[in-house]
Amino acid sequence: MQIIIVDNVQHVAENAADWIEELINKKPNAVLGLATGSTPIYLYQELVKKYKIGKLNFANTTSFNLDEYFGIDAHSIQSYRHFMNKNLFDHINIDKAKTFLPTCEQGENPRKQGLAYEAKIKHCGGIDLQILGIGANGHIGFNEPTSSLASRTRIKTLTKQTLKDNSRLFKENEFQPTLAMTMGIATILDAKYVLLMATGEHKAKAIKTMVTGAVSAICPASALQMHENVIVLLDKAAASELDNQEYYLWADKENHKISQQFGLFHKF
Ligand code: GLP
Repeated sequence: MQIIIVDNVQHVAENAADWIEELINKKPNAVLGLATGSTPIYLYQELVKKYKIGKLNFANTTSFNLDEYFGIDAHSIQSYRHFMNKNLFDHINIDKAKTFLPTCEQGENPRKQGLAYEAKIKHCGGIDLQILGIGANGHIGFNEPTSSLASRTRIKTLTKQTLKDNSRLFKENEFQPTLAMTMGIATILDAKYVLLMATGEHKAKAIKTMVTGAVSAICPASALQMHENVIVLLDKAAASELDNQEYYLWADKENHKISQQFGLFHKF
C-alpha cells in the first residue's frame, strides 16, 4: 500500500483529484469507480473546479458506483444516484448514460442485477481507478465485516453500526433502507488502481487494522493488502493510530520524485 499522509481534509481532496486528473488526461475513456459518503464530497468539489477551468474533460469517461440502496427510487433524495447527480454529475460534462450504479428496484431479482452489473463492468474494460472511503467498522462499499473476500456485486444486509453511522443523513421518521446492493470485495480488487481516502479520528482504528492487521473478513478493507496498486490518502487524524508514520512520509517524498519523472500511473 502506498500511504500518503497530508495535513487536512482539503489536501486529501486535492491530492485525490490530481490522481484522477492525470488518469483522465492520459486515458480520456477511463472507467472510474466512484463512491458516496461524506469523504468523497470534497474530492467531487475539486473535480468540478478542475472541469470548470478546463483541466478535466469527462466527455469520454464511464463510471460505476460502488453501491446503492436496495429498492430505493432513483429520484429519492436518499438514493446514491441523487447524491452523485447533485455532487458531481450535474456539474461536469460526463454522459449520464455512461454513469452506472448497482440498482435493484422493487420486483427485480438482486442476484440477476448483481451478475448484470459485473458483466457491464467487464464489458467496459474493467475499472481503471476505484475511489473508496472506509466505514468505521472497516467496510468498503457496503461489504460489512465477515463479507467474503471473494464476493461479487450482490445484496447485503447492513449492520447496526452502519445504519447508526448513516442515520445522520436521514430525517427523523424518514425511511432508512437496511439493505443495499454493493460491489463485492473481489469486484473492488479487480480494479487496476484503488484510491482509498479517510479523514478524521473516527477512522483511525479502521485504518490501522486495514494497513497492519491480518487480512481478514472481519475488516473487509484489509483485503486491499492483496492488491498491487493501492493508494491510501489520509489526513493526520485518520493516520494517527498508524505506527511508522515517519517512514510513510519519507517514502512519499521518494515516490513523489519518481512520479514527477515518470507519472503517477505505470499502467497507463
Ligand atoms: C457508507 C458507504 C461507503 C463509505 C462509508 C464511509 O456506508 N457505503 O462507501 O465509504 O460509508 O462514509 P463516510 O465517508 O461518510 O464516512
